[in-house]
Amino acid sequence: MKEYAEFDGLAFAVTWPPNVTFGAGAVAGLGDRARAMGGRKALLVTDPGLVAIGLADKVAGSLRAAGIEADVFGKVKPNPTMAEVTEGVARVSSGGHDFIVALGGGSSIDAAKVISMQLLSGRTIQEIEAKGVDDAPGVPLGFIAVPTTAGTGSEATTGALVKDASGKKYLVRSVRCRPAQSILDPELTRSVPARMTASTGMDAFIHAVGSYTNVQVNPIGDVCAQEAIRLVSGNLLKAIEDGNDLSARSAMMLASHLAGIAISQKGNDAIHGLSTAVESMVDCTHGESLSALMPHVLRFNHEAAAPRYAQIARLMGRDVAGMTIIEAAAVGIEAMIELRDAAGTCRALREIGVKPEMTERLADLAAKGRSTLINCRKPDRGEIVTLYQAAI
Ligand SMILES: [Fe+2]
Repeated sequence: MKEYAEFDGLAFAVTWPPNVTFGAGAVAGLGDRARAMGGRKALLVTDPGLVAIGLADKVAGSLRAAGIEADVFGKVKPNPTMAEVTEGVARVSSGGHDFIVALGGGSSIDAAKVISMQLLSGRTIQEIEAKGVDDAPGVPLGFIAVPTTAGTGSEATTGALVKDASGKKYLVRSVRCRPAQSILDPELTRSVPARMTASTGMDAFIHAVGSYTNVQVNPIGDVCAQEAIRLVSGNLLKAIEDGNDLSARSAMMLASHLAGIAISQKGNDAIHGLSTAVESMVDCTHGESLSALMPHVLRFNHEAAAPRYAQIARLMGRDVAGMTIIEAAAVGIEAMIELRDAAGTCRALREIGVKPEMTERLADLAAKGRSTLINCRKPDRGEIVTLYQAAI
């Protein structure tokens, strides 16, 4: 793992995320922001839950109050599908919308990104996966993201994950079709249930840990990741225990965004690499699958990531003075597993439907994943099988 003490040959690039407005109540400014960006008619991409509790209508009202026509497209479900994206594209094509607002968790934001990519390029999802859309002529629609969970950091990233009718997942990216602005309003996360707070919070934490410890070199990503780790460590359990603790909710929303910036610069690690394979074979929650895999990948990485796991121990408030780096790293690993256990997320893949006979297929899928390939210690196929067997 490269450290930067001497800055010898240091080389990296930064992909900075959109303009951000952060603060309790910030969503009230959505309409004015959309109008300032030239929006006249917006499609609000969201999920049935937020339609049911009236939040989608409230947010559409903010757009209308600013003189922007707004239609609600409230059909995005967890792990969004191309059927939902296709319907969203048709709504814009027939409705003449010139603006997209994504309101929700990572699913709504990801679906909105892919809707924008298809509208810009006219390409199929397979074509977008193969060659992207950033070379397409034309201008993408204006796009504001309003996340309502603290976890995916999707508002900060260029990537989006969608699946087709067969369940195959596509990870597509576009610098041009990510949100141009984000409104981070921690008030919107108050009503997120405890279990979802825990699983999305662990996703943010694992983004930060994975990006901080993989082989990619990017000191700005590292700064964001370290602060995200510190914030999650100090606030996730508070947010789970009392959903109305606005201070903890704010810290978690900031952590999620910072971790999103970190993965934009550096990517993830084998925890995500192995989890993506699981999610393509069983219907499960991202943060739960990650939680089950985390301890096993951390122990596998112990020596390779030792200086950084030692720093994670410090960021999580552990006293490692006088220890060797390897000992301090062990304390870091223990602290991370304790956080997961206290958050109460999934401890074993069998809890989410993974069966031992799936191991070989999972290993085939995970071995090719980019996140696996940039893990600080690259696992071979046999080691991936062993990791799955331990995690089941
Ligand atoms: Fe994730």
